[in-house]
Amino acid sequence: MQYFHKSVLLEEAVNGLDVKKDGLYVDATGGAGGHSKEIQRRLGHKGRLVIIDRDPDAVEVLMNNFKKFESVTVVRENFCDIHEVLDSLEIEKIDGVLMDLGVSSFQLDNTERGFCYKEDAALDMRMEKDGVSARDVVNEYSLPELVKIFRDYGEERFASQIAKNIERRRKKSLIKTTQELVQIIESSIPAAARRRGGNPSKRVFQAIRIEVNKELDSLKLGLNACFERLNSGGRLCVITFHSLEDSLVKKSFCRFVGGCICPADFPICSCGREVLAEIVTKRAITPCEEETRNNKRSRSAVLRIIKKI
Ligand SMILES: C[S@@+](CC[C@H](N)C(=O)[O-])C[C@H]1O[C@@H](n2cnc3c(N)ncnc32)[C@H](O)[C@@H]1O
Ligand SMILES: [Zn+2]
Repeated sequence: MQYFHKSVLLEEAVNGLDVKKDGLYVDATGGAGGHSKEIQRRLGHKGRLVIIDRDPDAVEVLMNNFKKFESVTVVRENFCDIHEVLDSLEIEKIDGVLMDLGVSSFQLDNTERGFCYKEDAALDMRMEKDGVSARDVVNEYSLPELVKIFRDYGEERFASQIAKNIERRRKKSLIKTTQELVQIIESSIPAAARRRGGNPSKRVFQAIRIEVNKELDSLKLGLNACFERLNSGGRLCVITFHSLEDSLVKKSFCRFVGGCICPADFPICSCGREVLAEIVTKRAITPCEEETRNNKRSRSAVLRIIKKI
């Protein structure tokens, strides 16, 4: 089966990396390889690209698709472990990193992975195909934990009702499939609210996926680690799809910029904080109308870029 993934903000993100022909770049979220292909196309014979993805299926396809390019290395790893990846390749510094967060259509459309609320499958959602699964979260997390996840990661108004119904249902038998969960979610939302306000299953599935893959923890660690490995002049481009991800990126970028935090009435600086970076995108870049029309998934995308000094 063929899966197609339309890369989001392709030109904008790769332009944001300011690819030099002999530079060394990391695509930290290889996915279906769309951004990687464009980065590779802009490199000369001395340039190099390292592609990372934590999903073994994505890595298999990426390895196959890029095997003809000597300058490209594909690695299966979580991008929060970029230090290990670069150390093992004997690379000290890099000129740019791209992160295009979330899941690819390759993952969503592969029913067996259990990411999609529209298809019936075992509850899974593990990008690494290992560790705690969606089934474990739904059947083993406490009521307050579930409420918090649905509310914080899914911004779900009926978080508490959904969590209570999950708890009631799992006392009788384990919740094993995506459609069992969808039914519980739908039965938890009052009819009037079901007709407006988007699909609650979409929000709850997203919330569980973020929890299963500890996506926010990886992002926090990954942003720091990637920034550390940048050369001066190097760029970090991040595409997010969720307000929590975006606020994490904004916070990290502010920290990277650093600069004096002494009170305005101090005659001289005593904090000693250096300016380490400059924000390239004073205002976040979002997809144009045409892109959002052609690719629904791009609607919530936000691109931010920072340059190390
Ligand atoms: C939106 S897709 C990337 C699509 C890609 N830019 C393209 O154009 O085809 C996100 C990919 O990042 C991977 N991913 C998400 N979080 C990751 C992490 N912490 N470390 C490594 N890969 C990650 C997912 O497995 C998925 O394949
Ligand atoms: Zn100061």
